[in-house]
Amino acid sequence: MDGKWVRNAWYVAGWSHDLVAGRIEARVIIDQPLALYRKQDGQVVALEDRCCHRFAPLSMGRLEQDDLRCMYHGLKFASDGRCIEIPGQKLIPQSACVRRYPAAERGGWIWIWMGEESAADLRSIPDPVRLDDPAYCMRSGQMDYAAHYLLIDDNLLDLSHLSYAHEKTLGLDMPQWADERPRISALERGLRVQRWLCDQPSRGFMKRWGETLDLWNSYDFLFPGIFLLRTAFYPVGTARRLDRGEPQEPPLFLRYDDQAVTPMTDRTTRYFYAAGARSADIDPERVGRLFGIVEAAFAEDKAIIEAQQKVIDREPGRRMLPTSLDAGPTQFRKLVQALLEQDGRPGPAATAQVG
Ligand code: FES
Ligand SMILES: [Fe+2]
Repeated sequence: MDGKWVRNAWYVAGWSHDLVAGRIEARVIIDQPLALYRKQDGQVVALEDRCCHRFAPLSMGRLEQDDLRCMYHGLKFASDGRCIEIPGQKLIPQSACVRRYPAAERGGWIWIWMGEESAADLRSIPDPVRLDDPAYCMRSGQMDYAAHYLLIDDNLLDLSHLSYAHEKTLGLDMPQWADERPRISALERGLRVQRWLCDQPSRGFMKRWGETLDLWNSYDFLFPGIFLLRTAFYPVGTARRLDRGEPQEPPLFLRYDDQAVTPMTDRTTRYFYAAGARSADIDPERVGRLFGIVEAAFAEDKAIIEAQQKVIDREPGRRMLPTSLDAGPTQFRKLVQALLEQDGRPGPAATAQVG
């Protein structure tokens, strides 16, 4: 088991709006059970969801102000994980505690640091659009996959699949996704992937700018699967005029897609997504329509990735055939491998390969 997961990383545990005052939420991230709740001041607490007494889940316990009582035999824990009461016993041993994980809120998400507490750096949390920021109009959702998280990362790092897996939704009449290679550059814990898609059919309200448009598609993809995509729409000819360089001029329309992939277990992954634009550029009804297409596409991804996982598991030793499409996934898996080694627990299972 050791070495299978990168522990020193911020993982998205859920949407901020899902963690309501007075309730305890059970979550699993990299095989670790967590009990999440809010203190009375709203601050998020993440404790190991395993009472140190006889391992009952603390998520089945009861909140008492900022403390959490296990409702099996009544041990009570402070929000830092220390046991502060044992029914029928005065002395509380030092070892009576559960692990506390650093937690933060950024964008629409709750983030948990699964590694060494001393290594948790709030500044390293990415900065997605806040769902409650009135300057933006976003819709959000989530889905669970029966698949390893790296298969979903592969999918997001290789958008050539839009032309095929999404030929009727996001990739409708857009063969360029598959035909052109993006520019890929390294980030500290991820990759930046950028490309122009020229002369693409414009849809819906964008038709007012012409039958076709040039799209600048740029995203940062950060471990473990944080996908921050900005798609900027320009008049046809812009890409050529800029010699396919990165545009600095304001686009006709800018679309935001923020997503997070969170491994729960080896074969279960939670996928969080939000899509929208600046409130000044779009209204809720249009965001709703756009979001409908996004969700239809994500169902297509889920169907093919879960089926792919089953095929992989049938014969885990089989080698895949790399093609020029795989530059993003291949580079990212190298990075995951390096992070696993840095985590100090490479072990025999320390492979970024699935299966
Ligand atoms: S298992 Fe929690 S108090 Fe006994
Ligand atoms: Fe997809």
